[in-house]
Amino acid sequence: MSKILCVYYSRSGKTKAVMEEIAQELEAELVELHDRVDRTGVRGWLRCGLDAVRRSTQPLEPFHTQRALSDYQLVILGTPVWAGRCSSVMRGFLKKNGRKLRKAAYVATRSTEEKSEQMFDQMDQYVSGSRIAEVSLRMGSVGYAFWREEFLRRVREFLETDVEEDVTREERDAFRNF
Ligand SMILES: Cc1cc2nc3c(=O)[nH]c(=O)nc-3n(C[C@H](O)[C@H](O)[C@H](O)COP(=O)(O)O)c2cc1C
Repeated sequence: MSKILCVYYSRSGKTKAVMEEIAQELEAELVELHDRVDRTGVRGWLRCGLDAVRRSTQPLEPFHTQRALSDYQLVILGTPVWAGRCSSVMRGFLKKNGRKLRKAAYVATRSTEEKSEQMFDQMDQYVSGSRIAEVSLRMGSVGYAFWREEFLRRVREFLETDVEEDVTREERDAFRNF
């Protein structure tokens, strides 16, 4: 059972593709989020933009994770950029669950040159644990592979240095039985 969870929302498949690659590289569990809003077509596109600007969220479809969210060593959150912000579906997830996350990393996908990195600070506001890495990717851009690898390098570095804390937790759990 992996201690890394990749959780994402993807309207048109780009974030999904990136998160599938990242989850495979890290042997992480992968979970896709949905809400109950029709976000297809032009009307759906407009709705997404309005939701992002208004910061409005809708209840999510139920989703299953193998562990409790607070039990993951790291949760990697993937979202498209909407109007310079995170998607309202990811915002909905964070509003409800951000306090349960011990450590977080963010993956944003976008279509423009503008990285919109301010959205990561906005996402931080919902997360109680610290952020260990973030990346804003544009599919098909020259820097895509480089920045994706750099993100993975930072995550792996975190996983290596976080071992001590993990052992301590396991030791603490072992001592509970005495
Ligand atoms: C409503 C809406 C607003 C968007 N706003 C931005 C934006 O501000 N900056 C940007 O670079 N891309 C923007 N995009 C493009 C998406 O972020 C980009 O295509 C993303 O990779 C789509 O991911 P997905 O296929 O996983 O849904 C927007 C897309 C939508 C639907």
